[in-house]
Amino acid sequence: MSAEPKPTRVLAVANQKGGVGKTTTAINLATALLAVGERVLLVDADPQGNASTGLGVSRALRRKTLYDVLMDNLPATEAAIATTLPGLDLLPAEPDLSGVEVELGQTPRRSYRLRDALAPIRAARTYNYVLIDCPPALSLLTVNAMTASDAVLVPLQCEFFALEGLTQLMRTIELVRGSLNPTLEIQGVVLTMYDRRNSLSSQVAQDVRAHFGELVYETQIPRNVRISEAPSFGKPALIYDLKCAGSQAYVQLARELVGRERARLRAAG
Ligand SMILES: Nc1ncnc2c1ncn2[C@@H]1O[C@H](COP(=O)(O)OP(=O)(O)O)[C@@H](O)[C@H]1O
Ligand SMILES: [Mg+2]
Repeated sequence: MSAEPKPTRVLAVANQKGGVGKTTTAINLATALLAVGERVLLVDADPQGNASTGLGVSRALRRKTLYDVLMDNLPATEAAIATTLPGLDLLPAEPDLSGVEVELGQTPRRSYRLRDALAPIRAARTYNYVLIDCPPALSLLTVNAMTASDAVLVPLQCEFFALEGLTQLMRTIELVRGSLNPTLEIQGVVLTMYDRRNSLSSQVAQDVRAHFGELVYETQIPRNVRISEAPSFGKPALIYDLKCAGSQAYVQLARELVGRERARLRAAG
């Protein structure tokens, strides 16, 4: 076996709808990947900074943020900080990140800022995975995330309007592929907040599976109160309560994701 570390895989967790489980998935998938032995950098690309807060990184600890990286060319390695979990680092966000949309204006390569910033991190192969938690909009920040990524991971909430807006999301992915990042893939679609006592949930899950086929992960994330409690303790759910159904589902999702990555590597020879 060669000692050469595998190339870093960069995944954007994206859906322009708010409240569908992007941040929850980014935090818990990152932690679950860590649990299966992967080194992970979580990039908080949402000005709301929920991923940073959810990982227990208070605003006082966010001295350098993604804003400095995107606007002032601060090396991403200098903005990334260690979390309380060894092997999981965070590139935090603050509300000023929302200014990027306006401040980048028409600057050249404005859609490549994050890709350029992550290039040294990819080259160093310090991390197996970089997860980017996107804001709830198909904005310049989301386009930057998709341009920087190898693949997109789409959380879909099991509710009536789940499929609404997905046409737009898919069109954005197509647009990014068409110009900024031709090799962008979809890693998968994950059903979140699945409630097995609610027949609507299973109906939505069926519809989504009929529509997206194999793109949908087998693992469904159940609606679970422990998952929603964890962020207020500044902890991933997996640390707050590893045994709860939600945490276990994220461990399963991480296995499935890693399995897909292995299959992709095999197919690529
Ligand atoms: N599986 C789940 N079970 C229960 N609550 C959840 C679950 N996933 C997410 N939530 C809650 O739903 C809300 C929205 O989730 P969040 O991850 O912040 O969505 P987004 O980042 O897409 O806006 C949060 O309050 C979160 O705690
Ligand atoms: Mg969020």
